[in-house]
Amino acid sequence: MSDCDIIDHIMKKQLITLAIETSCDETASAVLEGEFSVLSSVVASQADLHEKYGGVVPELACRRHMELMQPVVAEAMEKAKKEFSDIDLVCVTNTPGLVGALLVGLSYAKGFAFARNLPLVGVNHLEGHITAAFLEKRDLPLPSLALLVSGGHTEFFMVDENRDMKWLGGTRDDAAGEAFDKVARVLSLGYPGGPLIERMADKGKARFNLPIALASSGKLEFSFSGPKTATKQLIDKLEKENEELPVADVCASFQKATVSALILKTKLAIEINSPESIIVAGGVACNGALREEMRKLGSELSIPVVIPTPHLCSDNAAMIGAVGAHKYMKDPDNPHWKDYMSLDAIPTFQAKLA
Ligand code: KG4
Ligand code: ZN
Repeated sequence: MSDCDIIDHIMKKQLITLAIETSCDETASAVLEGEFSVLSSVVASQADLHEKYGGVVPELACRRHMELMQPVVAEAMEKAKKEFSDIDLVCVTNTPGLVGALLVGLSYAKGFAFARNLPLVGVNHLEGHITAAFLEKRDLPLPSLALLVSGGHTEFFMVDENRDMKWLGGTRDDAAGEAFDKVARVLSLGYPGGPLIERMADKGKARFNLPIALASSGKLEFSFSGPKTATKQLIDKLEKENEELPVADVCASFQKATVSALILKTKLAIEINSPESIIVAGGVACNGALREEMRKLGSELSIPVVIPTPHLCSDNAAMIGAVGAHKYMKDPDNPHWKDYMSLDAIPTFQAKLA
């Protein structure tokens, strides 16, 4: 290779990113080349640990993250066939999430970046979920309306041509995923509840009417706390009346009501914002009924709908690396990326509070 070839090769070398995600109960790491090429993505679920409590126990989550952080990163590096010396950038979820859980990933990322004098980008977990859609379809038409529907959040965002995101509205109380988890707990189905409810719903009929809260409020808002209580009351009533609870029918009815609420408000959000595409992201976007209804809505209104494949909908670090690499590449010389000490773990979703 001539000197010119070598320089050319270096110039064309794509950024190699190590990404880390520990905001809730998944310890995850990924290695990316450039913004969109995922070389490896490793997710260690803690579902077994939290199952008997019917939800995430924050203290246990942090301790498990501490045990898993190093082996998960090592596995991601090995699968990507990269050495630590190949890494150019470190990205880590620093908000929102369980503060102790966030701190484990953040401390690891800070240590890694500081030891190697690498830029470190803090990433918003919600932005990560939405960006998973760009890993699925890089050139999705913008501006896009994004519905993020997960265990902790149910929110609308507009994503502009620069991929900047503006919060439009969201749930007033529980997230949709949280309601799935709580109804599953009442039915003793296990944790996480979403996939278990979906499996039961597939065998049942949605023959019980459950309410859709705030249906005619005219605002981009949800409430899942009331429908969750209504489902619990239905279960109590059926238990008193029947010898055997029609679990599959209850699951089908709850799923239908939840999906209907999400579709109803997505229609309103489209009316108000006239987006060029729709993104549906977050763990609940794994739900087959929701995916189907959203696709139907998209074809009725002739708007492309992008829903990431299920492994990119639930928590993972590839989506975190995609956000961080994008932010870094827009402004690589910003000294902020080396200001390790100023990057804090922030448990709350700030835009919603503003
Ligand atoms: O995005 P995610 O992995 O973690 C958070 O950031 O919260 O979402 C987890 C949530 C859980 O509440 C889980 O029950 C729900 O996503 N979920 C589902 C399905 N798969 C996961 N909800 C409904 N149907 C599913 N198939
Ligand atoms: Zn998440």
